[in-house]
Formats: sequence, structure tokens, C-alpha cells
Amino acid sequence: LSSPFCLLHTTCLMFVFLSTGPTVSGLLVKGEVGQNITVPCFYRVRTENDITSMCWGRDACPPSKCSRPIIWTDGWKVTEQYHTKYVLEGDLLKGNVSLTILNAQETDSGTYCCRVEIPGWFNDKTTNLQVVVERGVGLN
Ligand SMILES: *[C@@H]1O[C@H](CO)[C@@H](O)[C@H](O)[C@H]1NC(C)=O
Ligand SMILES: *[C@@H]1O[C@H](CO)[C@@H](O)[C@H](O)[C@H]1NC(C)=O
Repeated sequence: LSSPFCLLHTTCLMFVFLSTGPTVSGLLVKGEVGQNITVPCFYRVRTENDITSMCWGRDACPPSKCSRPIIWTDGWKVTEQYHTKYVLEGDLLKGNVSLTILNAQETDSGTYCCRVEIPGWFNDKTTNLQVVVERGVGLN
């Protein structure tokens, strides 16, 4: 599950996150209203020196930073959180910067940007993920 080649490939994420509850396949994350939905994002941390800042934002990743930012971490801890519904529950020090949306609503559907600020020009690792929150069938 944590083999290093695995972490950077979305095909692998599918498999890691496939379970009951919210589902992730490739860059699409589906969940139901009222669930906590985790949107996967990882980067490779081999040594402490690899730990770096990152942000999550709504909409596709702009050329730098995040548009409509929702959370920032310096790599060690959350430094800005724009709403209490957004949390990082993964092990940041291992590069698990997956975003969890608590008690997701239909309005949380849309594009999310995960931007990891890798030092150097144009080195940032950006991933755009689609989140779809649907009303559950017969529940809620
Ligand atoms: C969502 O996460 C919160 C905080 O971790 C927890 O209290 C709550 O029970 C979770 N809700 C669901 C539906 O799993
Ligand atoms: C990453 O963190 C999320 C919580 O944000 C957790 O559900 C998931 O299992 C973690 N993934 C790995 C590969 O550790």
C-alpha cells in the first residue's frame, strides 16, 4: 500500500482509496451529501528537506498559488484554514496532503487544485481533481 512507486500514480490511488463510502477513481472523487470526502494528493518525502508548503483551492490551479484558497500548510502544520469544514487528516510529514471535506454538500462539487510548492522555477506539482457530491439514495 505504501510502496513508493505507488504514491505518485493516480491508477494506484484508485486502488488505495476504493472502499465503501466516498469513492475515488483517477482524478474524480465521488461522495454523498453528509459524508466526509477525502480528496487525495501526495508528494514524495524522502528526507525532511523534501517537506514543503502546499495549498488547496477551488477551481483549477492558476500559474502560482491557489485561486480561492481553502487551506495552506507550510508542510509541517496547517497555517491557514479558510473554513472549518476543510481539514488535512493525512500524515503531512509523509507527503499525504489529502484534503478532507467534512459533512460535504452538493455545493462542494467542482474542481479542486492541489498545489505542492516544490522549490525552483515552474517546479510546483499541481493536480486538478473533480469532486462530485450527490444526494444519497434513500439516505439522509
Ligand atoms: C466526519 O469527521 C468528523 C471529524 O473527524 C467526525 O466527527 C464525523 O463523525 C465524521 N462524519 C462521518 C459521516 O463520517
Ligand atoms: C492519507 O490521508 C488520508 C486522510 O486525509 C487517509 O484517509 C489515507 O488513508 C492516507 N493515505 C495513505 C496512503 O496514507
